[in-house]
Amino acid sequence: MSTQTSNSSETTAGHSTPNPVKVTTQTVVEMKQRGEKISMLTAYDFTMARIIDTAGIDVILVGDSASNVMAGNETTVPITLDHMIYHTQCVVRGVDRALVIADMPFMSYQVTPKEALTNAGRLMKEAGAHAVKLEGGRSITDTVKKIVDAGIPVMGHLGLTPQSIYQFGTYKVRAKEQAEADQLLEDAQKLQEAGVFALVLEKIPSTLAAQVTKQLHIPTIGIGAGQECDGQVLVVHDMLGMNKNFSPRFLRRYADVESVMTEAVQEYVEDVKNKDFPNENEQYA
Ligand code: KIV
Repeated sequence: MSTQTSNSSETTAGHSTPNPVKVTTQTVVEMKQRGEKISMLTAYDFTMARIIDTAGIDVILVGDSASNVMAGNETTVPITLDHMIYHTQCVVRGVDRALVIADMPFMSYQVTPKEALTNAGRLMKEAGAHAVKLEGGRSITDTVKKIVDAGIPVMGHLGLTPQSIYQFGTYKVRAKEQAEADQLLEDAQKLQEAGVFALVLEKIPSTLAAQVTKQLHIPTIGIGAGQECDGQVLVVHDMLGMNKNFSPRFLRRYADVESVMTEAVQEYVEDVKNKDFPNENEQYA
């Protein structure tokens, strides 16, 4: 962890292993080579990043899904580069081991490769990201090359690319038709040639994801793309059960944190109202 913040001698924050071996872009490529699956989750703040890093996650994505999860927007379109820099700074402070990748938000890389490089540079220099992620295929390969040539690792993202929601019109599974599947296979190859170190595949048929995974020497990370991908990613709030309104087929919930939080807050409210909190041991003489 870069810094440990606490304004009270009664609280501590820390990693279970001092000086853990850091995950790098090279590490995840080697994990594919030896058949070891890659675990990835999103995070947008210090506390969540600290918890999931300490729990052993390999890669943390500061996703532009922060637009939905943190800001309550319907899509990822409104989030800005400054917002992403802020969220990435918060996450980086909580991480000792994981590779931290920051999403480049909508319109921060689509205008020109030069502008994209400037913005990717801000995510690295100001926010402390270890790599950036861009959505898209053949239309962004020049941009990917420009960023990679400057020494910034890039992760790609194909399939359902939420920044294009107004073009797709729906969040349904992509590339079910052969023409779109063929295009995705070609895009994956082009992105690899442009220099991406890994590729997210979102909501595509598992057979297609398996084909892409076999075709590439870089790792694929799936979300709704089946078990043949080299790794898996989920939005952390979804897998913790903090968003009961979102139940796609691909989501596995590992906890019911929404219920835990609701019950805890209800109990606290009751204790305050009944004057049960604080008790004698919870106050100062
Ligand atoms: O923003 C995000 O959370 C993502 C993942 C769903 C891959 O891009």
